[in-house]
Amino acid sequence: MTTERSSLDDPLFRPLQVGALAVPHRVWMAPLTRLRCLEPGDLPIPLMAEHYAQRAGAGLIVSEATHISPQAKGYAGAPGIYSDAQVRAWQPVTAAVHAVGGRIACQLWHVGRISHSSLQPAGLPPVGPSVLPTQARTSLRDAQGRPMRTLCSPARALEVSELPGIVDAYAAATRRARAAGFDAVEIHGANGYLLHQFLAAASNRRTDAYGGPIAARMRLLLEVVDACADTWSADRVGLRVSFGASSSPELADDAPEANALTVARALAPRGLAYLHLSEPDWTGSGEGLAPAFRHALREAYPGVLVGAGRYTAERAREALRQGWLDAVAFGRAYIANPDLPERFRHGAPLNEPDATTFYGGGAEGYTDYPVWNAVS
Ligand SMILES: Cc1cc2nc3c(=O)[nH]c(=O)nc-3n(C[C@H](O)[C@H](O)[C@H](O)COP(=O)(O)O)c2cc1C
Repeated sequence: MTTERSSLDDPLFRPLQVGALAVPHRVWMAPLTRLRCLEPGDLPIPLMAEHYAQRAGAGLIVSEATHISPQAKGYAGAPGIYSDAQVRAWQPVTAAVHAVGGRIACQLWHVGRISHSSLQPAGLPPVGPSVLPTQARTSLRDAQGRPMRTLCSPARALEVSELPGIVDAYAAATRRARAAGFDAVEIHGANGYLLHQFLAAASNRRTDAYGGPIAARMRLLLEVVDACADTWSADRVGLRVSFGASSSPELADDAPEANALTVARALAPRGLAYLHLSEPDWTGSGEGLAPAFRHALREAYPGVLVGAGRYTAERAREALRQGWLDAVAFGRAYIANPDLPERFRHGAPLNEPDATTFYGGGAEGYTDYPVWNAVS
């Protein structure tokens, strides 16, 4: 038995204007790294076109994180968006999504210190805001091409003179994403990667204009946002952030909520397509965002707000009804349910994701999850 709701009374299925994009409903596909790309070259493979096209019923697909330069790479098997060959390899992916009526944003990624020197140009150390001991891990490929978890290599601190080059790499990646047929870009400012490393007090010990108070720690993020917006248009640029207290001591912040509101107020006048919250409890550890903070964020940030992290259809409806969010992105549920919005619409049961096939490999656990067949 399933219950179909009318789209009029279901907050998940009301259309939404997201910057330049008319989005038919509020069930989005969260960015999901799957590590199936071709190396060398970090090239998307044809199977990815099939995977994303299967999920094109999403309000908006956000692509797996995609590195903006060779230095920005931290995971073997992730795609890039810094070469013309990568643009050509992404084109069939975006075309396949468009052919069935979908929309797809490219998530722009610089991993910062979450990398291994064997993945870096000339085997150099990864880069970050500051030199810090780390217990963080990343993923290489073993001799059989399977993902292999590995401790990150010690990073070196970026010189201030190198930062304009990083901002330029985001701008160039935006240009290439547009040429590759994406509808938007999403700057990855969340989950402990470069821009988050600059934002968080524990990982940014700099004493120059990019470290110290939050106004300085958010400088690089804002420069990147402005560069991407200038390159394309602010209404084609989204941003993902990790607001709230991190469960990782390496990303501890001095005043997480107050700092998040400072960042949100700085973003508000920039007219971005959306702000995407990677909510702090998504791994199952740590606290979720407090209702008082959600209200304050809503006041600080008038644009489109998207949440992600352990949502069910019901929790998503509740967040929309409360006015805390305008859309909700689903990660693991989207891995296992290519037709997730249809299932939500009909109250149909969900397939369970198989975590052993999240990373690496081929079609298994990637393009072979069954759709729900409505029985009339
Ligand atoms: C396999 C896997 C890969 C992920 N890759 C990314 C990524 O590339 N970029 C990103 O911002 N978040 C990534 N995430 C986080 C998801 O986008 C999402 O925020 C998280 O899974 C919580 O949502 P869920 O509870 O609906 O799965 C990943 C999560 C999983 C499980």
